[in-house]
Amino acid sequence: MADGPGVERLPGLSPSAWPAGHLMKTREHCPGLHSYNLSAAEARDVLALALDCHRRFRQVNDQGFLGLLAVLAHQLPGDLQAAANAARLDDRAIAFVVTGNLVDNDLIGPTPATWHAADTDGSRPFGFMLLLYGALFGDPICWAAQQDGRLVTDVVPAAGMQTSDVSSSSEKALSWHTEDAFSPYRADHVALLCLRAPHEIATTISWVDSGSLPAAAYEVLFQTRFRTLADPSHEYQQGLPELPEPVAILSGSSVSPVLRIDRDYTIAEPGDRAAAEALDAIVGVLDANLTDLVLDAGTVGVLDNRNIVHGRRPFRARFDGSDRWLKRVNLVADLRRTRLGRRTGATRVIG
Ligand SMILES: [Fe+2]
Repeated sequence: MADGPGVERLPGLSPSAWPAGHLMKTREHCPGLHSYNLSAAEARDVLALALDCHRRFRQVNDQGFLGLLAVLAHQLPGDLQAAANAARLDDRAIAFVVTGNLVDNDLIGPTPATWHAADTDGSRPFGFMLLLYGALFGDPICWAAQQDGRLVTDVVPAAGMQTSDVSSSSEKALSWHTEDAFSPYRADHVALLCLRAPHEIATTISWVDSGSLPAAAYEVLFQTRFRTLADPSHEYQQGLPELPEPVAILSGSSVSPVLRIDRDYTIAEPGDRAAAEALDAIVGVLDANLTDLVLDAGTVGVLDNRNIVHGRRPFRARFDGSDRWLKRVNLVADLRRTRLGRRTGATRVIG
């Protein structure tokens, strides 16, 4: 589809995936999207670094690797690091998108049937690659109750899960959410590396524009009058230990607030009518701003989990080894902030 006159196509944003009637946004409306296109030589260098890390350390949770990760990431191309740093320092950033990574279809092998089978020899170098990119933003953490506590998790459609509320769904849209909105240890960034994308299957992103909410609702959203339950991607054996504490949906600066909300799992305090109305208002803004971000094979998207929510459009999976496959990692800007959630200082696993 050709872009209209005067409309600049955003890297990674797919006009063709926009729902009919939805106004295409120009760069002025999407100022926090940062992007970098690798040259062929840079892409070869990045792949060589990831393969070398895989050869040396074998597993992404190797303590020697994690101890050196931030140092190794400085071997990424300098111009790329500079672009990532600009995104890291932008307190209104939406995402940092890197295109042009070399992903060898034969090397990664077929898309596995479930995440359980996805930590394959062929795909593991790309887990290292994703962690190298992620290290430009923070330190990786993971969850004991999510994908067996793996540091790098996999997003693949699973048969039988088509209409579920987790990332292995396909026919049902994945509702927008702050990643792990229920937890104070949630990530500052969620990084995704697309290994395979047979169709334009869009990740969705949304954000709150300043001034888009009535002043009264905006004020209420900064107050602890909401609760967010853990989403079903966390497989707690006996449910959460207790009802989560009341939290605010917005926090920090009123100019660039931190957003914490899950469309399906955030509720207003029972009986609090003003909170319920404020929640409805912000859900309306986030629904209206929902934008497609198509990550093609070889594209990395580092989503700012403080500024945006994300989800995914529905699609028809084939379950024949050719489906969409992404590697995913959670990153925190301050590892110490998560210390109460981790059993030891050395582990990256929360829970
Ligand atoms: Fe998510």
